Amino acid sequence: MNAESAVQHLLALAVEASNNAYIPYSNYPVGAALRALDGTIYSGCNVENASYPVTICAERTALVKAISEGRRAFDLIVVVTKNGGSPCGMCRQMLFEFSPHLRVITADMDGQIHIDAPLDSLLLNGFGPERLAR
Ligand code: THU
Repeated sequence: MNAESAVQHLLALAVEASNNAYIPYSNYPVGAALRALDGTIYSGCNVENASYPVTICAERTALVKAISEGRRAFDLIVVVTKNGGSPCGMCRQMLFEFSPHLRVITADMDGQIHIDAPLDSLLLNGFGPERLAR
């Protein structure tokens, strides 16, 4: 599969995941598809909570699914929203832990791409695990 069709594939999986978003409070569905270096793809949606801060974003849902299945390194994430919104700071930080050079693509539900950039350009001088290496 070439790079462009891989993006289209992840985009379709992200849209599919966004259909499962649990969003009674924001009505803002988000879907993410994250590709591990071995090619496995993990999707996720946002899951809100009556205690608002308990909400988990789509990107972190996909990431924790992947980590809990034993994947630790990633090369591509596609995030879809109504309007091409970009990953929040908490998601950028959590992804940075594992793959600072991750390619981040955001798109809207029509497949229009809004951002296509490496994570470390979206989270400049991010704080990573090497800072705590002893
Ligand atoms: N949201 C995500 O899923 N990912 C982001 O990066 C930004 C925000 C969700 C959280 C909440 O359910 C809704 O979008 C509105 O903030």
